[in-house]
Amino acid sequence: MRAHLQLTGIRKSFGDAAAGGTLALSGIDLAVDEGEFQAVVGPSGCGKSTLLQIAAGLIAPSAGTATLGGIPVTAPPAELVYLFQQYSKSLFPWRTVLDNVAFAVEHRPDMGRAAAREHGRRFIGMVGLTEFAERYPWQISGGMQQRVAIARALAAEPRVLLMDEPFSSVDALTRMELQSLLLELWEKQRFTAVLVTHDVDEAVFLADRVAVLSARPSTVLRSFPTGLARPRDHLATREDKRFLGLRHELLAMLLKKTHG
Ligand SMILES: Nc1ncnc2c1ncn2[C@@H]1O[C@H](COP(=O)(O)OP(=O)(O)OP(=O)(O)O)[C@@H](O)[C@H]1O
Ligand SMILES: [Mg+2]
Repeated sequence: MRAHLQLTGIRKSFGDAAAGGTLALSGIDLAVDEGEFQAVVGPSGCGKSTLLQIAAGLIAPSAGTATLGGIPVTAPPAELVYLFQQYSKSLFPWRTVLDNVAFAVEHRPDMGRAAAREHGRRFIGMVGLTEFAERYPWQISGGMQQRVAIARALAAEPRVLLMDEPFSSVDALTRMELQSLLLELWEKQRFTAVLVTHDVDEAVFLADRVAVLSARPSTVLRSFPTGLARPRDHLATREDKRFLGLRHELLAMLLKKTHG
């Protein structure tokens, strides 16, 4: 069976390598099945964001191909949504929470403004923000803003959700709460998910499979199926022997590759 999202032999250099340019990715192969949750971990600066942007059709690779459903990705596909790290930059400050989320579907020809707002309300309910629907992003906390960004991403009903360190700017408890929320919504909708993170615990906790990248110029060192039961739970899953074993193995691999 062909993967839903397939990256084959992806290389990316910025500028001319001979003239001090940067080779970020040197031959990445990655296959993500339909409805699978895959995480990509790697040391800082190894090219994780670059890889995700290539998968999204935001930038072109220097060599290799990205395909989605067998079709080459040359521009951002309509069925794909990209969740950025900095929610404060991705929400519109002049729109209320509700209008930020409704934005995801406003352009649909089958939806008028009232239907788009109704749809938005449903997703705001799912992330537990109904009573904040009429507030502006700057009137709610950082964790709530990220919940709005998640609601907007999922309101678009994507078949593929790409996430670049989506929880890195919130505190540890909010982060765990958002991870559970994301899993809950993913269990319901079963979109194909790719999460880029530098956090091994987060990768193992959320994903079906974790790909480990080397330092730059990066390649895939190894890809691990997590094999942990679902639904996952912060207390039970994180104490599971298999979770601890994988965490150990991945961390050892990353520390060795990063520090020689
Ligand atoms: N537009 C660009 N122009 C030049 N170099 C770039 C550009 N984008 C990324 N790079 C370089 O490519 C390498 C990989 O960057 P990238 O942001 O993909 O890494 P990352 O793994 O996401 O890092 P982090 O963990 O810090 O988020 C870095 O050396 C970076 O400086
Ligand atoms: Mg990055």
